[in-house]
Amino acid sequence: MPANAAGGESQATEATATFDSVKEYYGKVLAKSSDLKTNACCTSEALPERVKHALANVHDDVLMKYYGCGIVAPDELQGKRVLDLGCGSGRDVYVLAQFVGESGECIGVDMTDAQLEVARGTEEWHRAKFGFSKKNTRFLTGYIEKLDELELEPASIDVIVSNCVLNLSPDKPRVLEQVYRLLKPGGEFFFSDVYASRRVPKALREDEVLWGECISGALYWNDFERLAQRVGFADPRLIKTAPITVNNKQLEKKVAHIQFASATYRLFKLPDLLEPDCEDYGQAVIYLGTIESHPESWALDDHHTMHKGKVFAVCGNTWHMLHGTRFREHFEFIGSFNTHYGIFEGCGRTSKLFAGTGAGGGASGGSCC
Ligand SMILES: C[S@@+](CC[C@H](N)C(=O)[O-])C[C@H]1O[C@@H](n2cnc3c(N)ncnc32)[C@H](O)[C@@H]1O
Repeated sequence: MPANAAGGESQATEATATFDSVKEYYGKVLAKSSDLKTNACCTSEALPERVKHALANVHDDVLMKYYGCGIVAPDELQGKRVLDLGCGSGRDVYVLAQFVGESGECIGVDMTDAQLEVARGTEEWHRAKFGFSKKNTRFLTGYIEKLDELELEPASIDVIVSNCVLNLSPDKPRVLEQVYRLLKPGGEFFFSDVYASRRVPKALREDEVLWGECISGALYWNDFERLAQRVGFADPRLIKTAPITVNNKQLEKKVAHIQFASATYRLFKLPDLLEPDCEDYGQAVIYLGTIESHPESWALDDHHTMHKGKVFAVCGNTWHMLHGTRFREHFEFIGSFNTHYGIFEGCGRTSKLFAGTGAGGGASGGSCC
């Protein structure tokens, strides 16, 4: 079914077959979350309090058809324009609509009519529940590979989210290119998806149930990171990861040799600012404790938890992720890019050239990567 290796016309035909098969799966085969045969689409990650509160305002019909694999609720969304790729019945849209508030907007895109019917059918109910004078949600029918065919201006979105959808796409590079095009500079793609410990063989990718269950369409994690970099997201940051179990004996046997995990990444669009590696310029930041719901500390990703008032050494990339984005007002910035000290210590890529000399192999003693 999926067309990753095919070319030209046959690629287009196979992509259409994938779309049809996935539409069938989410439009007809599955009626509710518990119909899934694996936990790939529904991992049991603990919910932050603010998400719990927001979910209490979401309609049961929407909640019943949730098939996500993570929590896509980034901070600092008030007044922002957010787009959800593969929004399904709209659970994340309705959570984020509360975070962006009446002055913001949350748009969902999906290709499956049956999912969108549920999402659209509860728009007025949610507006009233949130106490908004006008609705701040919109649901568009479309393909995430063809966002340029929708009424969305390039560089018009602050934050794009997606929950367990990229793995279902037959053309993942195209999706990431579309995301990059739509984001404003300084914007981010914050999304959860499924990843594999190795490249999934063609025979498994052709299994419609494994694909529909968000398993066999998963990218090998390293291919994903390279793809993101090629598209322009130079420094993908991992936020959270959790193993996935296939709770169905038959399916489990087919994929026993591969490990799968759900993961949440954030990819910042910071054109011409981010470097391929974390470089040390002797910089640091101090968190001001002002991001809502995070008075004591705030985490940018899985290895940057910054405590209020404490000096935190950062590489040039992390500096830009805080300075060139909506997070800027919440930090004090120390230093500049005037002096380069080599690679940021512990960043993963060191050179044997200066082994033992203390030069160029990372001299910051910092807390970045
Ligand atoms: C696993 S479900 C996740 C739904 C939703 N994000 C959630 O968390 O409940 C995948 C959704 O993505 C949609 N989808 C899959 N591939 C798509 C594509 N290429 N373009 C648009 N929507 C797509 C499906 O219709 C389905 O609603």
